[in-house]
Amino acid sequence: MQLEVDITGKHFENAAGERHDVLAHIKFSLHAGEVGVFVGPSGCGKSTMLKILAGLDRDYQGRVSHPAAGRLGMVFQEPRLLPWRSVEDNVRLAAPDVDEARLAELFAVLELSAHRSHFPGELSLGLARRVALARAFAIEPDFLILDEPLASLDDALAARLREEIATLVGGRTMITLLVTHNLDDAVRLGDRLFLMSARPARIVAELPISMPRSARGVAEITAIKAAILRRTNGERSEQDVS
Ligand SMILES: Nc1ncnc2c1ncn2[C@@H]1O[C@H](COP(=O)(O)OP(=O)(O)O)[C@@H](O)[C@H]1O
Ligand SMILES: [Mg+2]
Repeated sequence: MQLEVDITGKHFENAAGERHDVLAHIKFSLHAGEVGVFVGPSGCGKSTMLKILAGLDRDYQGRVSHPAAGRLGMVFQEPRLLPWRSVEDNVRLAAPDVDEARLAELFAVLELSAHRSHFPGELSLGLARRVALARAFAIEPDFLILDEPLASLDDALAARLREEIATLVGGRTMITLLVTHNLDDAVRLGDRLFLMSARPARIVAELPISMPRSARGVAEITAIKAAILRRTNGERSEQDVS
């Protein structure tokens, strides 16, 4: 399974018919088992790109070859839970085939076991984000898309969830796309980092991280981050940073 992306343009038109170019050129490919991480300035077109890659927006120029017949799990920038359904029902509705053992494991990993019967209105943003993650993983996706899943969480919770995502990603062969502003998330979770320009977005650097995820501790992450910052100081490169 492979994801091949060659988007050559995407624009929106406003009510006055004015053209607003959002994506310039986005070209990359990812294999099954790989995590692609996208880092770019706010408003550059990351969420727009993810919606195209998820197949939710077909109005663009270029080509995307999706994993054939694959199951998609998606965590949007906002948790997007059904407010009138419990936490457990939100997950079960998206993943009707999930068995109780897997559900219990996911709720335990994401520290949601005590919240199964709560409603979204009773949850903090951090909890709601975790439910959105549980829902995406319960689908047993072949293709997982995470749009800033750890944004606006406090550092300690974000760090814990980052490890939980690493565990979940490590337990399943799928193609994962992650958008983040946080270089720690990018380096902890990614196999390939894609740095994006300001709008209209293009990929300005592709940085592979070959060190296995399981070997990336605090010291390794610090070293890889330093290598990335050296590499991105004005220079374009596709060499390994680990
Ligand atoms: N449905 C839409 N209609 C018009 N403009 C949009 C729409 N969605 C996004 N945009 C515009 O496209 C640009 C990129 O948005 P987005 O993809 O959400 O950026 P990012 O996720 O990188 O912060 C922004 O200028 C935004 O206002
Ligand atoms: Mg966004």
